[in-house]
Amino acid sequence: MSSKQALARRQFIQTAALGAVAGASFLNQAAAQGSEVSAPAFTVGLDPKDANRPPFAAPDVVRPLRIADLNDLEAEARKVMDPGAFAFISSGSDSQWTLRENRRAFDRLVIKPQYLVGKAVPDLRTTLLGQSLSMPIITTPMGAHGLAHQSAEFGTARGTAEAGTLMEVSTTANRSIEEIAASTKGPKWFQLYLLEDQNKSRDLIKRAEAAGYSAIVFSIDAFAPGSSDATIRMGFQFPSSLPLVNAGGSPFKRSLSWDDVRFIQETTKLPLVLKGVLTAEMAQRALNHGVSAIQVSNHGGRQLDGVSSAIEALPAVAEVVQGRVPIIMDSGIRRGTDVFKALSLGANAVAIGRPVLYGLSLGGWMGVKSVYERLQAELTRDMMIAGVGSVAEFRREYVVKAAL
Ligand code: FNR
Repeated sequence: MSSKQALARRQFIQTAALGAVAGASFLNQAAAQGSEVSAPAFTVGLDPKDANRPPFAAPDVVRPLRIADLNDLEAEARKVMDPGAFAFISSGSDSQWTLRENRRAFDRLVIKPQYLVGKAVPDLRTTLLGQSLSMPIITTPMGAHGLAHQSAEFGTARGTAEAGTLMEVSTTANRSIEEIAASTKGPKWFQLYLLEDQNKSRDLIKRAEAAGYSAIVFSIDAFAPGSSDATIRMGFQFPSSLPLVNAGGSPFKRSLSWDDVRFIQETTKLPLVLKGVLTAEMAQRALNHGVSAIQVSNHGGRQLDGVSSAIEALPAVAEVVQGRVPIIMDSGIRRGTDVFKALSLGANAVAIGRPVLYGLSLGGWMGVKSVYERLQAELTRDMMIAGVGSVAEFRREYVVKAAL
């Protein structure tokens, strides 16, 4: 290989690694091992080492937000965030078909209201794996909250707890899972990315147990990093000031199987939530393996582009589960009516992602709380008008497919 070719190949691998959503270690490792990656003749994008690039700075303001529609937050967050950080958070993988489907699929569903049923203000409270929540809406696991706000995961944990609900804390947090747990009295689950070294994975699970997390959320769809075109074009690199402190630099496990589910169950007595389930078959196997809950998710369209929206995957999973374990659904929830549709189609709760980080960037913990307050107000109004008195009253018949 000529030195010019070698340089082009190295640049490509570096650029590809920049696009890694879940961790660049996979591609770095491939590069180190010299595995074949076909190199294009040139790369497009900013040079991350460009001296004119401004230093990374996440916003620091703490204030409540007046929100009409959670969808508005993205444009506002873009104005205050580092452009690379915004691209990393907002984008989906590849052509973003799944990202768009996550929203479009809600538009193909129609609510059937029950009028004249004599219902007063609905009760949104619910319980999930023994945790009492103010509403059936929780914070999904996301890495690197420091990209959005100086308070990082502490801000999200406080905002979520002040709203009376639960946070799923990611392995790829910028703060240690012990510090995050100590910073909040709110309910919390630990989302696990398995590490290549099984002993280190075991340590991570034991640390989560000791820190007081009440469930382990095992994400099954991100063992190879997702890749967003926007972050590749921008040459986004995680700032060194925001290390992912919990994995201790260990590479993620690159091949997962049901043996890994068994390993986690043998390691801890904590309930296991399987996150990333998208099919009835997977749900059946999850039940066979005795999982405690299922999270229907396509990772917010950030992993395998082309998979179905999570809301469309939900009914088949609910059909298999038949209420035996709770179902949480995430990916694309932005409005009270989205929550209404998900609960009607069999979810016990939904999880929200990007709006939380946008709220965090615009208002710190208060911004996160405002996001929850808006969604809670919308869902309360929607349930009230549609004649649904409580979370337990949702029925599949309340939502039908739109006649297109
Ligand atoms: C994520 N997601 C995610 N999931 C997970 O299991 N572990 C993780 O570390 C991350 N990291 C992460 C970072 C960022 C910036 C985003 C936006 C998402 C996926 C997340 O849990 C969830 O599946 C989606 O975010 C839900 O979609 P919405 O609500 O963002 O549309």
